[in-house]
Amino acid sequence: MSAMHVAGISAEQEQAPKSAPRLKRQSLSGRPLASAAPERIPGGQCRVAIVGLGTVGGAVARLLSQSGAAHPLRLSHVCNRKIARKRVDGMPSRVVWTESLQRVLDSDADVIVELIGGLEPARELVASALRKGKSVVTANKQLIAYFGSELLALARDNRQYLGFGASVAGGVPVLSALQHGLAGDRLAEIRGILNGTCNYILSRIEQAGASFAAALAEAQNAGFAEADPTADIDGHDAAAKLAILARVGLKIAISPDQVHRQSIRKVDVIDFEHAHELGCTIRQLSTAQLYDGCAYLGVQPSLVPQSSPFAKVSGSQNLVVSTGEFGGETSFGGYGAGGNPTAVAVISDILQAAAYRRNPDTLPDEAPVAPCELTQDVEAPQYLRFVVRDRPGIIAALATVFSRHQLNLYAVLQKPGHPSSALPFVITLEPCAQSRLAAALDEIGRFDFHVQQPIAMPILA
Ligand SMILES: NC(=O)c1ccc[n+]([C@@H]2O[C@H](COP(=O)([O-])OP(=O)(O)OC[C@H]3O[C@@H](n4cnc5c(N)ncnc54)[C@H](OP(=O)(O)O)[C@@H]3O)[C@@H](O)[C@H]2O)c1
Repeated sequence: MSAMHVAGISAEQEQAPKSAPRLKRQSLSGRPLASAAPERIPGGQCRVAIVGLGTVGGAVARLLSQSGAAHPLRLSHVCNRKIARKRVDGMPSRVVWTESLQRVLDSDADVIVELIGGLEPARELVASALRKGKSVVTANKQLIAYFGSELLALARDNRQYLGFGASVAGGVPVLSALQHGLAGDRLAEIRGILNGTCNYILSRIEQAGASFAAALAEAQNAGFAEADPTADIDGHDAAAKLAILARVGLKIAISPDQVHRQSIRKVDVIDFEHAHELGCTIRQLSTAQLYDGCAYLGVQPSLVPQSSPFAKVSGSQNLVVSTGEFGGETSFGGYGAGGNPTAVAVISDILQAAAYRRNPDTLPDEAPVAPCELTQDVEAPQYLRFVVRDRPGIIAALATVFSRHQLNLYAVLQKPGHPSSALPFVITLEPCAQSRLAAALDEIGRFDFHVQQPIAMPILA
């Protein structure tokens, strides 16, 4: 495959959608879409091609078609595999519909908007577009988290803009705020609730007393979780977003694979009961911290105080709080997912791309980003929940292990009403390093009194 050709559907395979009754497109008149003549557009306007006409791509196409001449953007192409199935109301007839990625690359579009998701062929499409002198906007977190360095270097070498503001927190403009609004500060920490599926599941466990399995099934039925929910509930999705936040905000290059991840699968209704006793609730929290010249990046279910703004975040809402050396805490909240909120972020990036195309000399270089050593030795108070076959000496056995690892026990909580054959109780620990806790839990896990393996969660101070 040549550098300019993208795997996927060839131009020869392109065909007009045959059944799109609500579209005012050339296919309706019986002419093949590929014959659509390039439109003359007034100077200063910017042609936009959308690749991937799904939830976000469809919303971007609709918003671009609706907003008339108020902005300099003109939708020129939409591209999707098997495009005959796709519908977008109100799209101008001049727009070329195609199944061919190559046709989009060979077109006169100024900006290519990648909204197909995944790593390939998205990576090849973006790289080819940049090499062809086109600007690119993407909402693809995996692509930027894994190949951001490579693609941003390619954009710089080709003097093109690569916008990815929608890749983290959907419609919340946190990346541009970190890039520009807080550029004058030295950020030390970024914390966030970055995954709506986890919010939904944890809220259902809390509010309906549902088991994790029941809450997940409910989320899947309601369209809030994928058939394969692994990426969300095991923290891969949030880890990719956290790696991008760390790149932009903390100026460190970390692969999502290096982010410490803990699934929410083990969180149970009993954990919420104990968390409430402690004045807390439970959220999947993503944290990137600079610490003694190292960095800690983790995605974990965590106890957050009810008084914390993180406790108030629900559904597809996201919240990111950055902490700067000089400016202190700054919060960014709003809809982290959904077609329209994400489309707003995408269009904002396209407008930025259009502005840079008008004035290429103003195209900024990315602030320098460097690799950073990772540490697990950040300290936090910990919540440990056990379910045991009750017998004398269990607390003493646990205390011995804690003491060997220099972990200070803070409190023991036990709620009445559970059988001694499966007795839940909670121990909280004073702030301790994750590495010492992990070593102690490794030993503790070998005791024969467990009915379930213990769960550990940090407590946000
Ligand atoms: N949805 C959100 O709320 C949200 C928020 C922030 C960021 N994002 C990101 O935005 C991107 C798009 O997400 P989405 O929710 O819009 O996904 P989606 O609904 O699955 O849409 C993706 C579209 O791309 C098409 N497609 C996939 N691979 C293709 C290929 N090789 N060639 C041509 N077309 C292809 C799909 O066609 P089919 O119909 O055949 O599958 C589908 O129409 C992803 O990177 C996602 O992570 C989404």
